[in-house]
Amino acid sequence: MKKQAIGLLDSGVGGLTVMKEAMKQLPNESFYYIGDTARCPYGPRPKEQVKEFTWDLTKFLLEKNIKMLIIACNTATAAALPELKKVLDIPVIGVILPGSRAAIKTTQMNRIGIIGTEGTILSGEYKKAITKKQANTSVFSQACPKFVPLIESNQFSSAIAKKVVTESLQGLRKQKVDTLVMGCTHYPLLRPLIQNVMGDTVTLIDSGAETVNEVSVLLDYYDMAEEKSEQPNERKFYTTGSVNMFKEIASDWLELNELEVEQVSIARLKGIIDNERT
Ligand code: DGL
Repeated sequence: MKKQAIGLLDSGVGGLTVMKEAMKQLPNESFYYIGDTARCPYGPRPKEQVKEFTWDLTKFLLEKNIKMLIIACNTATAAALPELKKVLDIPVIGVILPGSRAAIKTTQMNRIGIIGTEGTILSGEYKKAITKKQANTSVFSQACPKFVPLIESNQFSSAIAKKVVTESLQGLRKQKVDTLVMGCTHYPLLRPLIQNVMGDTVTLIDSGAETVNEVSVLLDYYDMAEEKSEQPNERKFYTTGSVNMFKEIASDWLELNELEVEQVSIARLKGIIDNERT
C-alpha cells in the first residue's frame, strides 16, 4: 500500500529548513512540499490575504491525501493556524508554539529576541506564547523584511546579505538577549551571518527544526508513524514559481541531486483550471 505523506507548505523555499530536519528525523516518512514562490513574500501582506493563500496551498495538499499538515511558515501560522485546526480533520502543526517553547527552555536570563516577517511580528504571537507560559520574560521583537528576498534570490551567502543582516540586527544586539528565535523559516539559511552579528553567547532557535521534534511525537501519539519497509519514500516538491531557481536552492540546501520539482500555476491552485501534470 502507498504511504500516506505528510504535507508541508511555505511561501517559498523557507520551509525547506523544516523539510531538511523532517527528512533527518523521520526517514521512513513520505513528504509533499509546496512553496508559493510566485506570491512570496507573505510577510508584508495583510492577514486576510495570507490566510487565503494558505488555504490555496492547503487544499492542493489535501487533494494528495496527506495525513498531517505542517505549516512550515511563521507568517502563515500566525494568520491561519487556528482556522485550519478547527476545520481540518487531520492534525495541523504550526511553527510558532514549538519555537516559543524551545526559547523558554533555553533562556537563562529571561531575555528573548524574536526576528520574523512584518506579519509575524505584528501578530505578536511569539510574545503572547512566551509570556503566557513565563510571564517574567522580556521579549524583544524585530521585523527583518529584507531577509526573505535575499534568500529567495539565492544570495544568502553574499556580501550584500552580510551587510543587510548586520544593519537589521543592530537594535536587537543592544538588548542583550541570550536567546534569539529565528521566527521565519527562511532565516536558518542566514544562520552563520546572524550568529556572527549576535555573537557566540546568543543561542539561536530554529523554530522549524523544533517543530519537527513535535511532529515526531504526534506521529507516535496518533499511531501514524511509518515503519521501515521496502516501500520507497516519496519526496515531491511543488512551486508556483521558477522550477530552476527552486531546484537550485533546494538541491543545495537538502544536499540531494535528484529532486522531483513540479510547477503549479495559481489558476490550478485556485481550481480555475483542473489539472496540469499533477
Ligand atoms: N518563511 C516564511 C515565514 O516563516 C515567510 C516568508 C515570507 O514570505 O515573507 O514566516
